[in-house]
Amino acid sequence: MKTYDNILELVGHTPLVRLRTGMPENGPEAYAKLDFLNPTGSVKDRMALHIIRKAMDEGRLKPGDTVVDNTSGNTGASMAMVCQVLGLKAVVTTPVKTSKEKTDLIRSFGAEVIVTPETLHDDPEGFYMVARRLAKENGWFDLNQYNSLDNIEAHYLTTGPEIWDDTEGQITHFVCGIGTGGTFSGAARFLKEKNPNIRTVAVDPEGSIFAELIRHKRIGRSQPYKVEGIGTDVPTDAMLPELVDEVITVSDRDSFLRAREITRTEGISAGGSSGSVAWAMEQVAREAASEALIVGIFADGGIKYLSKCFNDEWMTQHGFLPDSEVNS
Ligand SMILES: Cc1ncc(COP(=O)(O)O)c(C=O)c1O
Repeated sequence: MKTYDNILELVGHTPLVRLRTGMPENGPEAYAKLDFLNPTGSVKDRMALHIIRKAMDEGRLKPGDTVVDNTSGNTGASMAMVCQVLGLKAVVTTPVKTSKEKTDLIRSFGAEVIVTPETLHDDPEGFYMVARRLAKENGWFDLNQYNSLDNIEAHYLTTGPEIWDDTEGQITHFVCGIGTGGTFSGAARFLKEKNPNIRTVAVDPEGSIFAELIRHKRIGRSQPYKVEGIGTDVPTDAMLPELVDEVITVSDRDSFLRAREITRTEGISAGGSSGSVAWAMEQVAREAASEALIVGIFADGGIKYLSKCFNDEWMTQHGFLPDSEVNS
């Protein structure tokens, strides 16, 4: 009999699937690691489970306690799901730009969602500061994904080893979006320990400060962008720039159009940031030798964005799709 005791046992162990959209003919093989196949549909299940379980094992968190964090949505669903199974409560702060599908999903797991204005990190009314304040005022457990080294550890212990094992050590290029930086840093650290020649590529949206920070060690000014889950307006402790060999900046338009194209041609329901990663994987593939083996993380799926980049009206409204291309 092949059965599981609870849903938490299904976190991780996501598959690598060949990616063909946009890849050069006779170029290297590229594989997408489908992390939208985690129980709540995103890579964040790994981090939430690891941080919460570790805190419980160490007696810093016990059943009945409340966990809080700010999130662009995916972490909220992961936190809420893990908390339900382990007998904890979850409170999530999220900015207004987060898609309705994502906030509804968080609520569906029984968590409380507080929607905050779209402002900068240090604004007391913004999602980041509100989460910190709530943790402090109420004595709640602050997941603090942006600055937790356990976020990095989650991927060092799971994502990195899975990629190494599933490619039988043949991976040559690792491509990953950076939001908190935890996925990139943990997996990149593990892979480079196994083989220092593996080239690590961080993917950042246009408007985020990460690219300039990594390339020139300068903190620039952020600009608004629409892709969810990646990019930042302040440095984070979960992002380790010394592990980055190259950073590729991707526009909203290229991200969304690529996500749509992959979904329609390969049947892989890719979220916006997976589109960013896939676009960056193409740039990597164009430069790499034909024997290279490229792995990119697809952090979440298109089902979370049906009202956004998979909605023609939304795409046209934001200038990402010419009127002539709208499906009737
Ligand atoms: C859709 C999406 N892509 C990528 C990421 C990046 O993951 P990390 O925070 O580990 O850098 C996230 C994180 O929220 C995400 O939600």
